[in-house]
Amino acid sequence: MYENQGRDHRRRAVGAALVAAVASAGIENVVLEKHSREHVLGRIRAGVLEHGFAELMREAQCGDRMDREGEIHEGFFIAYNGEMHRVDLAGHTGGNSVMIYGQTELTRDLYEARDRMGGTVIHEAADVQPHAMDADAPYLTWRQGDERHRLDCDFIIGADGFHGVSRRSIPSNVLREYEKTYPIGWLGVLSRTKPVSPELIYARHEREFALCSLRSQVLSRHYIQVPLSDRVEDWSDEAFWEELKLRLPEDVAGSLIAGPSIEKSIAPLRSYVAEPMRYGRMFLAGDAAHIVPPTGARGLNSAASDIYYLYHAMVDHYETGDDAGLESYSDRALARIWKAQRFSWWMTMLLHRFPDHTEYDRHLQETELDYLFSSHAATTSLAENYVGLPF
Ligand code: PHB
Repeated sequence: MYENQGRDHRRRAVGAALVAAVASAGIENVVLEKHSREHVLGRIRAGVLEHGFAELMREAQCGDRMDREGEIHEGFFIAYNGEMHRVDLAGHTGGNSVMIYGQTELTRDLYEARDRMGGTVIHEAADVQPHAMDADAPYLTWRQGDERHRLDCDFIIGADGFHGVSRRSIPSNVLREYEKTYPIGWLGVLSRTKPVSPELIYARHEREFALCSLRSQVLSRHYIQVPLSDRVEDWSDEAFWEELKLRLPEDVAGSLIAGPSIEKSIAPLRSYVAEPMRYGRMFLAGDAAHIVPPTGARGLNSAASDIYYLYHAMVDHYETGDDAGLESYSDRALARIWKAQRFSWWMTMLLHRFPDHTEYDRHLQETELDYLFSSHAATTSLAENYVGLPF
């Protein structure tokens, strides 16, 4: 198994989560990583873990610090027309919730678990290439410095991100791709400030979307919708906080504590799925096969969903010789992935203001929000998707 290459990031937690899980089940594996450990642990990523993902981390014996330091959230808010509407996740899902715990911290825990188990992680692996995936004996080649290496294996897990080599190694007459781009981006700021609200606030506003999120009670993560043409340098910290306040209900804006940014970046919004997620003895996982816009917090969780199916399929293969899970991996993973795609698209369309929006579109959006909060069934649908659909 390996993970390597690309510019995107969920792959790190994904590959690491899978190998932690399979290693705890006694399955030997090797991780190839393009970057150094310091680089991997220096990045700020997602922060909302589905109930089922948190469970998987516990099963892989990597959940202790998450359980100590993470926060269980049983609801979140949607702000619109100056008012806050709470989505009671627990109340609508029979007690389910999400775990607020940074992906960076999770990755750190997974690295430490890897160290404890004596597992191999090859860092700074360059020019990784999978070979013979459609035959019985696949292998990988890569370079480290001037030295060339080869690894023969039973299976290759392509958890190497959207720009990675795995998906690109599947012949074009086999691969099908589905894509939707949105003409907007999110400007994100991390700051060492007390969160404005104990629970997340998604704000739909005439001045465009905003999100108040957090990593802990001393670390806030905020986002505002920006045009794709904006660059990070266009936004001073002052301008960011001022614009964020304008998009929040008055009392929330009044209690917002601003502070210097620790990290600031712009991410474009995109939906993407590649099918199938298996080619011979290579299995795609995470961003290598699919991307969602961040609105429903499904990105890392969609990757975790693949890991859930792959982990169980691998355990069945090695423990009992049952290959049903491997055979059905692509279909089962994709069925759930498409539901996460639908939910992310729906929440994105619900909350953002788009350049081509007509008055009709705005009216429909407001009606959708009114319906959401006047219908128990509609709120339940939102809640059950947000905490994560069953596997
Ligand atoms: C985050 O905290 O980074 C975050 C939370 C919820 C989202 C997206 C991002 O929907």
